[in-house]
Amino acid sequence: SSSLPPKFQTSDANSFGQYTAEKRWPIIVQNCIDDFSAETGLSPSALAQQQHILDELEKLKREIQEDGELRPFTKEEMELSKVPKVFNERGEELGKQTWVNGEWLYCEVYLYRRILVLFRQNEAWRDYDVFESVKRETFRQSEHGVVELAKWYQSLSGQMGSELEALFQEFVEISLWGNATDLSLLTNVTLEEIQSIQGASVRSDSQERILINDTSLVWQALGAGKVRDSKQRVDFVLDNSGFELYADLLFSLFLLDSGMAGTCVLHAKDSPYMVSDTMVKDYHQLTGDLHDRSFFSCDSGKDTAARSALDFVSERISSAFSKGQLVVKEHPFWTEPGDFWELVPGHPVFEDLKDSDLVIFKGDFNYRKLTGDLRWPRSTPYRKAIGPLAQHGLRSLSLRTAKSDVIVGLAEGVDEKLCAEWEAKGNEHGSWWASSGKWAVICYSDGKPL
Ligand code: F6P
Ligand code: MG
Repeated sequence: SSSLPPKFQTSDANSFGQYTAEKRWPIIVQNCIDDFSAETGLSPSALAQQQHILDELEKLKREIQEDGELRPFTKEEMELSKVPKVFNERGEELGKQTWVNGEWLYCEVYLYRRILVLFRQNEAWRDYDVFESVKRETFRQSEHGVVELAKWYQSLSGQMGSELEALFQEFVEISLWGNATDLSLLTNVTLEEIQSIQGASVRSDSQERILINDTSLVWQALGAGKVRDSKQRVDFVLDNSGFELYADLLFSLFLLDSGMAGTCVLHAKDSPYMVSDTMVKDYHQLTGDLHDRSFFSCDSGKDTAARSALDFVSERISSAFSKGQLVVKEHPFWTEPGDFWELVPGHPVFEDLKDSDLVIFKGDFNYRKLTGDLRWPRSTPYRKAIGPLAQHGLRSLSLRTAKSDVIVGLAEGVDEKLCAEWEAKGNEHGSWWASSGKWAVICYSDGKPL
């Protein structure tokens, strides 16, 4: 392991990580301040606590802007807010770190924990999710894509026997590009750009921007559609709520309704995280919103075809949920700073996942954790970059639109070509094509040692 590359640092010159720490984190904290200030009609004590939290958020923002030192969580914070010990342990191992001169992955996970602690320490706001309104509002604004997919799913019912492989490919891509709607990127992408990624025609144009596509290997691994009442279990390590979660739910329904899987297990976060990540309550919120006659504009416009499709999908989801075919659960591991190189036999999360026939890791941050967020040469083989996870029998699939510096598995010359293209488009740093969210990878590992 002495030959491993170092982890990305927020001090890496001209990296997207550096830009994230210097520019994006202060904006993310400011967005928290703005959204939280919009909570009104509070009791006197809740109001006083709100003011206190807002002051602390301002301080946190300045701490980042002034490149302060990351401090350990206090004993009081650890107890009151149940901060896992691993935060301070890892912080100690890393030694002195500042916001803009620290390990990118650790600093980012630490940032969300600092925000969480501020709320947890104030009785009136203990269970508050400061990101909930942005998650819900963005889902509301995805109505067009949501209805389009619901109508399509409704039209498929009853004819899922034919063209199963083509449908499988389509659902993989829907779930993949659903990840393009990560709200933390709203700091530099317009909402129109995000919505445009959701339409069907855009999706097929996007195919050429999938740089690695292992879908046929996954299709084979899941039995190539030969068994129609399968007991197979497929797990999703979820990423963002809103349109991405909705896309993952449709993919799950497809696996169940086609008989390719008997159970789909969705792994959610145990606290508000990375702006838009899914918590168990977000799952309930979103499925409720699908059903709610006052959430989308189609109901006020009396668009009965849209309503019938939304009802169709939401009833399928709730029936799968109540039959236990769709399971949603959380584990603290997913919001801790450890990466997925820790997932080896004996680790409680590994012991759970090992019974699965396929574990799908959604999104960018999960990809960073799969690859250790190490400075791999971009042509490093994927199975090398995911370390132990490629060796203990776990079948895993990463569906990731590229939104950060790390990317592996590219054929020789591809990175150089894309860097040149990206620069020719007028972008300052060619290598940032990989953090633009415009390219994607579908990477499979069968978990078998070579
Ligand atoms: O800020 C770091 C980062 O990994 C970004 O690159 C990305 O925008 C975000 O966090 C999370 O993306 P995702 O929701 O796809 O994991
Ligand atoms: Mg996310």
